[in-house]
Amino acid sequence: MTAFAFEKKVISRTYDGRRLLCEGAATRCTGLAAGGMGDPLPIDTYLDIFYYADGCRQLCRRDQFGPSCAHGHIYRMVSEMVSEACGKRKVIKSEMNYEKITKKFDIPGELKKAAPFGNGHINDTVLLVFDADGSEKKYVLQRINRYVFKHPDELMANMRGITDFLKKKIALEGGDPGRETLTIIPARDGLDYVIDEDGEYWRVTAFVENTVSYEVSETPEDFYLTGTAFGHFQSLLSDYPADTLYETIPGFHNTRARFINFLKVVEEDKAGRVGECREEIEFILSRKDLAYFSMESYEKGEIPLRVTHNDTKINNLLFDTKERKPVCVVDLDTVMPGFAMTDFGDAIRTGASTAMEDEPDVSKVKCDLHLYEEFAKGFIKGCGDKLTEKEIETLPMGALGITYEQALRFLADYLEGDVYYKTTYPKHNLVRTHTQMKLVQEMEENADKIREIIAKAAF
Ligand SMILES: Nc1ncnc2c1ncn2[C@@H]1O[C@H](COP(=O)(O)OP(=O)(O)O)[C@@H](O)[C@H]1O
Ligand SMILES: [Mg+2]
Repeated sequence: MTAFAFEKKVISRTYDGRRLLCEGAATRCTGLAAGGMGDPLPIDTYLDIFYYADGCRQLCRRDQFGPSCAHGHIYRMVSEMVSEACGKRKVIKSEMNYEKITKKFDIPGELKKAAPFGNGHINDTVLLVFDADGSEKKYVLQRINRYVFKHPDELMANMRGITDFLKKKIALEGGDPGRETLTIIPARDGLDYVIDEDGEYWRVTAFVENTVSYEVSETPEDFYLTGTAFGHFQSLLSDYPADTLYETIPGFHNTRARFINFLKVVEEDKAGRVGECREEIEFILSRKDLAYFSMESYEKGEIPLRVTHNDTKINNLLFDTKERKPVCVVDLDTVMPGFAMTDFGDAIRTGASTAMEDEPDVSKVKCDLHLYEEFAKGFIKGCGDKLTEKEIETLPMGALGITYEQALRFLADYLEGDVYYKTTYPKHNLVRTHTQMKLVQEMEENADKIREIIAKAAF
C-alpha cells in the first residue's frame, strides 16, 4: 500500500492527469508487484498499467531500497507482459533459473542472490550477488533485447572494443579503469556472451559499487554534469577508429535516409492520413536542409566521424553515491559511428524541453535556454580540446536536426498507421509530432541566442 500511495502522490503532483490514471489497474498493478501475475487481463488494461508505471518510473530515482524500487519492479513486470502480449519478446519468468545461465560465465564463487535491477528501458537487467571465499561480490546480468538489436554478437564486439580502449585511456589519465567504464565478464568458453536454449543473448558486467543512477535531471547542475560525462566519453574515444564499429541499429541517426523514407511513406499513404496532415508534412518538407545537414557536412569533409553513444540521457550514467558526480557511462549498446552534434542534440531534445514528449498543450512546450546552456557548457568542457571549431559551431544544428528527425519519425509512424511507437490513443503520434515541431520552431526562433550560448560555452 505504501508504494501505491507514494505513486499516487507523485502522479498528481507532476503528471497532472496526463497519463491514464486508472485506479483499478493501478491497484491491480500493486497486487502484481506484491506477488504473482494473477489472471490475464485484457491488453488495454495492461497498456494502462504500463503507462502508469512508466510515468512513476520516469519520475523516480533508482535506489535499491526505496519506493522507487517498487516502481521499477512494477514497470518491469508490466512491460514484460505487454511485450509478450504484443508478441515482441519473451518474458523472463520470475522463477527464471539464473543459476544455470550464470554458471556459463567465468565468475568465481557461488551465486547467493539474483533479482531484477535498475530501470532500463531496453534490456532485462538482473543484479547477481556472489559469495567468493566469504566476501560478497556483485555483478550485473543482462539479456540483450533482440527485438531492438538484431545482431547482439556485433553489439558485444563494439562493447569489447570500446571498453578495452577506455580502460587504457582512463588508466593513462590516472583514473580507475574498474570504476569509470564497464568491465565485461567473459563466458567460460571465452566469448563475451552466452546464448541460451531459446537463442537469447546474455552478458555480465562487474557491478560498479557505490553508484546510483537518476531517471531525470533534478537540477540544471545535473544536466550540466550529464553534459560533462558524455563530452568526456567523446573525448576519451576521439582517437578510436569509429569506422571499425558496427552499426547496431543501421541508419539510426541518418536523418537524410529517414527523410527519403518519409517521402515514400507520404507517397504510399497507407493509413489514408496524408490529407489531414498537410501542414505537418509541409513543415517537414520545407526543412529538407535539416535532414541533409549532418551527412552533407560529413561528406564535404567538414566534420569527422566520431564514436557516439546515441542515448545520452542521465539514466545511462552512474553517479557516485556520496558526491553526486558522474562516474561511469553505461548502456553501450547504441555506441556507433556518428557525429558529435548528434549526441549533443539528443540530450538537448529531451533534457532542455519543458514538457513531456506527448504534451497535448503545445504552449507548454519550450526549449529552456538556461538548460541548453548548462548542457552545452558541460558537453564542451567534457570534450576538452577534441572537438574541431566546425564541430562546435554545428552543435546547434545537431539539436535542431535530431528534434526535426524525431518529428519526422513520429509523423511517419502516424501516416503508416502507428506501427512502431506504442500509442495509447488514436492521435498520440500526431501529438508527439507537434511537440517536436514546437521545439524545432523554438530553436529556430532563438537561433541567435543559441549561437551566443555555444560561443560563450566554447570560450
Ligand atoms: N555494471 C553496472 N553497475 C551498476 N549498475 C548498472 C550496471 N549496468 C547497468 N546498471 C544499471 O542498470 C540500468 C539499466 O542498464 P542499461 O544498460 O542502461 O539497460 P537498458 O538498455 O535497458 O537501459 C542502468 O541505468 C544502471 O542503473
Ligand atoms: Mg539505459
